[in-house]
Amino acid sequence: MSDTPAHVRLDGHALTLVFACARDGAARLIHAGAKLPAGEDLAALDTAGARGRHENQPDVPPVAGLLPEAKHGLMTSPALVLRRDGARLTTDLRLARWEATHEALTLTLRDEAAQIEAVLHWQIGAGDVVRCHTVLTNHGTAPLEIEQLASLALPVPARFTECTSYAGRWASELHEHRRTIAPDGLHRESRGGKPGFDGGNWLLLHGPGQEVLGAHLAWSGDFITRLECDSAGAGDGTALLQLAASWQPGEIMLAPGASRAAPPALFAIADHRSVLAQAFHAHLRDDVLPARKDWGPRKVHLNSWEALGFDLSEDKLIALAEDAARLGIERFVLDDGWFGGRRNDQTSLGDWFVSPDVFPNGLAPLIARVQAFGMDFGLWVEPEMVSPDSDLYRQHPDWCLRAPGQERRTMRGQLALDMARTEVRTYLFERLDALLRDHAIAYLKWDHNRTLFPAGAGQTEGFYALLDALRAAHPQVEIESCSSGGGRIDYGVLSRVHRVWPSDNNDAIERLRIIPAWSQFLPLEVLGSHVGPSPNPITGRRLAMDFRAKVAMFGHMGVEADPARMTDKERATLAAHIALYKQWRGVLHSGALWRLDHPDAGVTGMMVTHGDTALALAAQTGFSPVFDAAPVRLVGLDPQARYRVTLPEPWPARARHYLAHPDAWRDGLTLSGTALMTQGVALPLTHPETAWIIALEKIA
Ligand code: GLA
Repeated sequence: MSDTPAHVRLDGHALTLVFACARDGAARLIHAGAKLPAGEDLAALDTAGARGRHENQPDVPPVAGLLPEAKHGLMTSPALVLRRDGARLTTDLRLARWEATHEALTLTLRDEAAQIEAVLHWQIGAGDVVRCHTVLTNHGTAPLEIEQLASLALPVPARFTECTSYAGRWASELHEHRRTIAPDGLHRESRGGKPGFDGGNWLLLHGPGQEVLGAHLAWSGDFITRLECDSAGAGDGTALLQLAASWQPGEIMLAPGASRAAPPALFAIADHRSVLAQAFHAHLRDDVLPARKDWGPRKVHLNSWEALGFDLSEDKLIALAEDAARLGIERFVLDDGWFGGRRNDQTSLGDWFVSPDVFPNGLAPLIARVQAFGMDFGLWVEPEMVSPDSDLYRQHPDWCLRAPGQERRTMRGQLALDMARTEVRTYLFERLDALLRDHAIAYLKWDHNRTLFPAGAGQTEGFYALLDALRAAHPQVEIESCSSGGGRIDYGVLSRVHRVWPSDNNDAIERLRIIPAWSQFLPLEVLGSHVGPSPNPITGRRLAMDFRAKVAMFGHMGVEADPARMTDKERATLAAHIALYKQWRGVLHSGALWRLDHPDAGVTGMMVTHGDTALALAAQTGFSPVFDAAPVRLVGLDPQARYRVTLPEPWPARARHYLAHPDAWRDGLTLSGTALMTQGVALPLTHPETAWIIALEKIA
C-alpha cells in the first residue's frame, strides 16, 4: 500500500497545478486552474476534494492517476495498452519517484513484474500552456508492443460541463460544435494518416462563466481523442480527457531496453476564449515555432495557383511577377506544375526536376527576374507523394505505401511514398536539397494532397525526419505546411515550419469563419491569408476587392489571383491594403488577439493589441435587419488611457456614405479605453461585404 501522499505544486503566471504523489501508489491531479496563494495548505486542499467510498465501488476505490491502466476495477479506457508474446500484458504501474521544479514535474512509474517503466513529464511552458509527454521503457527480455500510450490523461475538473469539438471537410475546415459533456462522452479518431480537416485533435472544454480549457495533441499523424465521464467510477461526474497518437497494430515494438516517447499533448486554462488564444499563441511563439524571435516581417506573397493554375510558361510567370511587384508583393511563389511532365494533377509527382517543356532555360531566369522586381522566390512541392504516371514510380514501383496484395488505389491520381523507408527519404532529400542548392529559393510550400491508406506512425515520423534534415541543411528557407488546405495543422508540424495554409478556400466570407477558428490556437502570423479571385473558384461568390483585402490583412497576407484580370480600381484598392498591412504587420504578428462580440451574428470582429497600438477588423457578411448596426465595442485596452482612433482608408464604397463624420474618423477621435470598450464605435455595417479597419494609438 502507498504512503500518505506528498503534495507538489507547479506554478505559472496565473496557473497552479497541484499533484498528490503517493509513493508505490499513483499521482493525482488535485488542482488545475487559478493560481493559488503562496502557502496554500495543499494537504487541506486534497482533503477538501476527497470523497468517501460509495456503495458500488471496489472495497479499495480505484485511482485513475495520470496514466490509467486496466486494473483494480477502473472503468475508464486504459491510457496504456501493451502486448508481449502476442498476449495483452496486465500492468500495475506504481509511482517510484518524482522530481519537481517550480514549473515541471517528472513522475517515474514502475511495474517490476511486467518489467516496464513509464515516465510522465508535465511542464508549464510559455503562456501557462501545460505540455505533457510520456516515455515508456521495456525492461524485459522480450519485445514489447505498444498498442496505445496516451500522451495526456487529464482528469477534467468537474466545473467543466460543456465541450466544443470540431468538424469540417476540404475547403470548409474547423466548424465548432458546442454541447454538454454527456455521459456517453466523446470519441474521435482519425484514420487518414493525418489530423484531417475537422480538427479532431483540438478540443475546448467550458466551465463556469467564460472559463475555458483548450487541449491539443502535437502530432501530424492519426490521433485518438477521448472524453469519458465518471471514468473512475467515483460517481462525481468527473470526466477524463485522453489524447493519444493512434498506432497501427504491431507497429510500435520496443526491443528489450528500448524506450518510446508518445508525442506531446498540451492544455491550457483561461478565463476567456481570447485569453486562451493568447496563451496558445504565446506558447507557439516562444516554445514551438522554429526560431520565431529571429523572423523578419512576414512578406506579402503572390501565389501562382489561382492566377495561372497549370497554365505555366516563363513569359506568363514573369508577367505575373511584374504585376505582383507593382502591387507591393514581396515574395513570388510558383505553385504546382513546374516539374517533370506535370501539366495536370494526374501525373509526375516524384519527378522533382525542373520541366524543360515549361522552362527551357531552367528556373534561373525566372528567379532572376523575380529578384530584380525586388521579391524573393518560393516553390511548391509535394514530396511525400508519387504519381503512378511518373519516372520515379516506373523506376521504384515498390516505394509507395501499400497494403500487400491489395490494389493500389489513388486519390487525386496519386499514391503516397513509404516515408518509413530510408531510401525514399534519401531520394527526396537529394532532390529537394539539390533544388535548394541550385536556386535562390527562400520558401517552400510543402503540400500533402491525399489521405493515407494504409497509414501509420512511420509515415509521420519519416515526414518529420525529412523535414528536419532539410531544415538543418537549409535553415534560412521558410516552409509552409499545406495539406489541401488545413488537413495537417498541429503543433508537431508547426515546430518545423513557418506557416500553415488554413484552407484552400480563399472566399473572404468563408475566411471570416476559418481564420478565427484556427486562431483559437494559432497566431495570425502563421495563418496564410490570401486575396483570392472574384468569383471565387470554390464558392462561386463575387466579393468586392475592398472586403477581400481587409479580411486578408488579418493573417499572413498574400494574393492568389491574377492582377491582370483586375480592374485598375481593384488593383489600386489591393495595393493600398498591402501598404496598410505592411504598416501594421508588426502589431498583427506580435500582439494579443481578441475576438470582438457583436449582437449581429453576421458581424465578425477581431482585434490585436500590442504595446500602445491596436488594430481591429469589423466585417459584415449578411444583410443586417437593422439600419444602424450596433456599435463595435473594442476590448483589451487600458481603461484609463486615451486613444487616438482612426478608420484607415480606403473605406468600403457601399458603406462610406453612411459615415456621419468622415473627417473626424480621418483626423482621429480621442476617446478613453473605457469609452471604447463600453460604448464602442458606430460604424456602417448594414450591408454584406462591408468591412472596416479601426486603428488605435495610445496618447502619451
Ligand atoms: C493543393 C493546395 C493548393 C494548390 C494545389 C496545387 O490543393 O492546397 O493550394 O497548391 O494543391 O495542386
